[in-house]
Amino acid sequence: LPVSIFGVPTDIGAAHRGASMGPEALRVAKFAEKIARHGVEVRDLGDVAGPRNPQTEPVEGYRHLDEVAAWNRAVFETSAGELAAGRMPIMLGGDHCLAIGSIAAVAAHCRARGKRLRLLWMDAHADFNTREITPSGNIHGMPVACLCGLGPGVLVDLGAPGPAIRPDQIRQIGIRSVDRGEKRLVKAHGLDIYDMRYIDEIGMRRVMEEVLEGIDENTHLHVSFDVDMLDPGIAPGTGTRVPGGVNYREAQLMMEMIADTGRLGSLDVVEVNPALDKRNATARLAVELVESLFGKSTLMRD
Ligand code: ARG
Ligand code: MN
Ligand code: MN
Ligand code: MN
Repeated sequence: LPVSIFGVPTDIGAAHRGASMGPEALRVAKFAEKIARHGVEVRDLGDVAGPRNPQTEPVEGYRHLDEVAAWNRAVFETSAGELAAGRMPIMLGGDHCLAIGSIAAVAAHCRARGKRLRLLWMDAHADFNTREITPSGNIHGMPVACLCGLGPGVLVDLGAPGPAIRPDQIRQIGIRSVDRGEKRLVKAHGLDIYDMRYIDEIGMRRVMEEVLEGIDENTHLHVSFDVDMLDPGIAPGTGTRVPGGVNYREAQLMMEMIADTGRLGSLDVVEVNPALDKRNATARLAVELVESLFGKSTLMRD
């Protein structure tokens, strides 16, 4: 599939500023050039536009709801357009609230074409908060809930009215920070969570076999990669770091096993914050891992 990358320069769903510089950090790390080495046609569409960050307090449980909705509408339109043109959209965030728009577009695309959707949510966090239970009001802690229909109409009904996806289409990997009310909610909705303890106990190879189980020629795989899944020791450039994350070799194996399926249909790379980084290390690591997702390997010719 030919690839279209686009940047979404905002931190509208987060409390820390700086994820708005993520798209440029990833471009400086040669995102497009490096994946093009693996035999894919890559086009950079530039950046999507949206409102500035007013840095206001949450209102009725949501921080910046109108602005988050505006950015997500723009993301939805861009993703939907590329999917309709037969291209693979890659969103360079920006914070993780933007995955509401990108994944709503993928879900609509799959529904229209009778494709099965499998969402791999790579993250330290479950991002399954709602206005009633959020400890922060930050909407980047809510995108999975919104996609499952739990959230405000302006976000839930972005593509079509009602939930964009069902919990059984989701696999979450790398999770190690779930808030109190959020724990109850993920359980009630039956989310499939491969947390760090499970990864440590059974190993990343077996985890990925389980996560990829049942995908076939008719499956569209969407990877939503929040770089805070990675251990902060190797990926310090992100706003909500949690110790005890996925290490380099585990992350590389994840990407390689996904590449082997040949079913990757769309991708988000989010929460890169160069203001908190050391020499752009996090963007550079993200680019290396995305190369693995596009088939980079030690012994195969590229
Ligand atoms: N659970 C916390 C919250 O709701 C942190 C969420 C962090 N999310 C992220 N995409 N980095 O505020
Ligand atoms: Mn996230
Ligand atoms: Mn996260
Ligand atoms: Mn909807």
